[in-house]
Amino acid sequence: MTRSLRQNLFIGIVGAVILTGGLAGYLVYNWAYDEAIEMQDSVLLQIASVARSHDQDVTTVTELNGVDADTHTVLVQEGKDANSTQFRSLWSLSSGLQDTTIEGVFYRAFLSERSSGPRFAVLQQTSVREEIGSGMALRVIGPMLALIPVMTILIAIVVAQSFKPLVQLSHQVDARNANELNPLPLVHAPSELQPFLISLNRLFERVRELLDKQQKIIADAAHELRTPITALSIQAENLDATALPEDARSRVEALKSGAIRTKHLLEQLLAMARQENGASLNQKIEIGEIAKTAVINLIESSNRKEIDLGLEQGEPIQVCAEKITIEVLLRNIIDNAIKYTPKGGKIDIRLRRKNDLAVISVEDTGPGIVDDELESVFAPFVRGGSKEGDGSGLGLSIVRRIVDQLGGTVTLLNKAGRGGLIVTVEIPIEIKSAVNVANLA
Ligand SMILES: Nc1ncnc2c1ncn2[C@@H]1O[C@H](COP(=O)(O)OP(=O)(O)OP(=O)(O)O)[C@@H](O)[C@H]1O
Ligand SMILES: [Mg+2]
Repeated sequence: MTRSLRQNLFIGIVGAVILTGGLAGYLVYNWAYDEAIEMQDSVLLQIASVARSHDQDVTTVTELNGVDADTHTVLVQEGKDANSTQFRSLWSLSSGLQDTTIEGVFYRAFLSERSSGPRFAVLQQTSVREEIGSGMALRVIGPMLALIPVMTILIAIVVAQSFKPLVQLSHQVDARNANELNPLPLVHAPSELQPFLISLNRLFERVRELLDKQQKIIADAAHELRTPITALSIQAENLDATALPEDARSRVEALKSGAIRTKHLLEQLLAMARQENGASLNQKIEIGEIAKTAVINLIESSNRKEIDLGLEQGEPIQVCAEKITIEVLLRNIIDNAIKYTPKGGKIDIRLRRKNDLAVISVEDTGPGIVDDELESVFAPFVRGGSKEGDGSGLGLSIVRRIVDQLGGTVTLLNKAGRGGLIVTVEIPIEIKSAVNVANLA
């Protein structure tokens, strides 16, 4: 089970508040109860003192409601108790405060005598006294108990606020792209988080170094292989030009296409490695011009398949990127459209502006991509189910890396009805600061 620090802290503090509050409540309750009982005794004494100075005899049991209707205090006088014999046992008690039982009912009594001689008693039922005592004690601890839920809410708010920087930090780290390894800012972070942030930044640094090394190995290997592969292609071309027996010619053809495929793979690997190394985002370039060049470069292969390749652009759109980056992006998307669209098909390339975004869409009349593969085709070296034509499976993963780096998105959508794929790339026109300055205070 995952332990939550926030939960532990909340439960700990609320537990401590309830425990100490409960203990304090218990002590205060007992103290207030004792005080209330003592107060009842002093009421009995005060009544007795008034009665003692009063000359007039009490001829019957007198209910003393004048003090407080709830106190149920009565005054009886020895020998004058004409209506009842129930208090006869009282007069055997000595003077002063006494606990006694009269006909099975518990009483607190104060016995005294007048200067003229007759004894009298002020009585109060014990159950009434206890009721008054507990009522008063509850009124004293009531506000204390009522404060416990208020404190619980306040504690929950304080704990949640204290953990906010941690939650914000996790959102920031989650929102990062895999290749976004710039350090997290320490300036506004709470001191408790600083060591954690410093370690995290050191880890980012190490991961960046590792990635750089790996990309350099790929780029160097691809670069080194380029020369021998080019030499191999030239030799295969030369061989093709010579007089060869029929069975040797088919082998030369296989050799030539193998060399072309390998060259294409090396080019894709180099494009990928270049992308990983992080392109500069400082310059502004017009994507319409680059798209025109891409179309011109690919027109031969689209003509070969009798594909109607069209480019449509409204206003000029500038984005912050390197020219080569946008070239690679467009080349890969248009190349896919040509490669996977059957003979006689149609491809529409549209460039437009949507608020602060440059939108590039390439729509073809090919077979589209089965829904299950719409995400997996973005992984490196993964080709779609149809595996039409030659390919290394790197094109779309290069496209995704480029748009990630430019802070944009790429989506694939199968056209309903007649089929075909729409690839839409959205790139922010103004780049947001690469360093996400977080306010963790
Ligand atoms: N326009 C398209 N129409 C249909 N399928 C497509 C289209 N674009 C891409 N795909 C599918 O997505 C897969 C991945 O494309 P991606 O460009 O990454 O690799 P590739 O074209 O096979 O190889 P590479 O581009 O490296 O030469 C392709 O193999 C293909 O099955
Ligand atoms: Mg491709």
